[in-house]
Amino acid sequence: MAIQVFKPSMTEEEVNAVAEVLRSGWIGLGPKTAEFEKKFAAYVGTKHAVAVNSCTAALDLALKLLDVNHGHEVIVPTMTFVSTAHCVAYRLATPVFVDVDPHTLCMDMEDVRRKITGRTRAIIPVHYAGRPVDLDALKEIAGDIPIIEDCAHATGARYKGQHVGSTTDIGCFSFQAVKNLAMGDGGALTLNDDLWQQRCKRLRWLGIDKGTWDRTAADKSYWWQYAVEEVGLKCHLNDIAAAIGLVQLRRLQDLNGKRKEIARRYTEAFSKFDFLETPVEDDATFQSAWHIYCLKAPQRDDLCTHMAERGIATGVHYTPIHLYSCYGNKPQLPQAESLFTRIVSLPMFPDISDSEIEQVIDGVSGFYSANGSGTIFPMPKVADEPATIEFKKAA
Ligand SMILES: Cc1ncc(COP(=O)(O)O)c(C=O)c1O
Repeated sequence: MAIQVFKPSMTEEEVNAVAEVLRSGWIGLGPKTAEFEKKFAAYVGTKHAVAVNSCTAALDLALKLLDVNHGHEVIVPTMTFVSTAHCVAYRLATPVFVDVDPHTLCMDMEDVRRKITGRTRAIIPVHYAGRPVDLDALKEIAGDIPIIEDCAHATGARYKGQHVGSTTDIGCFSFQAVKNLAMGDGGALTLNDDLWQQRCKRLRWLGIDKGTWDRTAADKSYWWQYAVEEVGLKCHLNDIAAAIGLVQLRRLQDLNGKRKEIARRYTEAFSKFDFLETPVEDDATFQSAWHIYCLKAPQRDDLCTHMAERGIATGVHYTPIHLYSCYGNKPQLPQAESLFTRIVSLPMFPDISDSEIEQVIDGVSGFYSANGSGTIFPMPKVADEPATIEFKKAA
C-alpha cells in the first residue's frame, strides 16, 4: 500500500466511543454533540462553539449570521479549497480573490487592502496548511469589516498564544476525515455572541428553535412543540461523529506534536538543497497546526511521478481557485499562478512510521541528486503573462 498524503489516526478509544453511542439509543443530534461543543469552545477559548456537519456548512452559516447577500463582496484567498469561495456564492454574493504571500501561501495583506470596496461585507482568511495568518495586520486593514477565519487546516494553531478562531468575529473549523481533528465529517463555528449562537443553532436545524434532544430532556409538557421563525438548512453534527471528536480532542496536542516533528525532519533533510523552499518555521508569534507539509520544488510534476513510482503519494494544495471555470479561469493573481506550478504536499499524518519518513526523504533527495545540482533548477520567476489553465477532461 502506498504511503498516503493524509491518514486519520484512530485508536480503540475512538472505536469504543462510537460503540457506546450506538448502544445508547441516541445517535443523532444529542448529548455528545453538546458535550463536544462545550469542550471545543473551552479549548479554542470562545464562549460558544456550534457543531455542524462540515466546515463548508460552518462558512455558509457564518455568512448568514452576517446577513451577507446579493450585491455584497467577500474577500477570500485564491490558494484554498473551493469551499472558502463557494460559501460566498451560496449567498449570491461575489467572492473577490486575493493573491498569496509567496512564503506562507496565506493571504497577501496588501492585496486585501487594495481589494476592499464599499461593498465588502466580510474577509475570510485561510490559515493555509495550519499556519496562522497575521491576524493583527489583517484586523488593522479590515477596520470594522467582519473577519471570518477559515480554520479548516488549523485546529490547534496559535497566533500570539491565542487559538485561531478565538479573536475575530467567527472561526470555522473542519473535522473532515483527514483533518487534524477527524470525525469522518464535521465542523464547528466558534464565536462569543449569545444571539449569534442561538440563531446559528436554529439555522443548522432547519430554523427549528429547539433540537429534539433539548425538548425531550428539558420539557415536561408540550415537549413536541417548536417554533420556526426562519428557514434553515439541516447541517448539524450527530452524536456518532461527536463521540469520535471528543476522543480526538483529548489526543489533539499529542497528534499535532507528531506533525510538527515530521515537519522538522523533512525540513532538516531538505535544507541541503538550496533550490527547495521548505515551509516557514514556527516562532513565538506563529504556531502552525502542520496540517499540510508544502514544499516549493522545481520540476514538481516529474518529482510527483518519481514519488508515485516509489509508492509515495503526493498532493497539490491548491489549484488557485479563481482559475476554475466557475470563477472565470482568468489569470489575475501572479504569485499564486506561478507558485501553483511548484507546490507539492508530502505525506503528513501522525502515524507515519520512521521508515516511511525516510522513504519520503529518500524519494525527494534521490530525485534531485539524480537530476543534478540546484544550479539546473532555478526557481522560476513570477510569470509576466501567466496562462489560464486547461483542465483535462476525465477519460
Ligand atoms: C481551507 C478549507 N476550507 C474549507 C474546507 C471545507 O471543509 P469541509 O470538508 O469540512 O467542508 C476545507 C476542506 O478541506 C479546506 O481545506
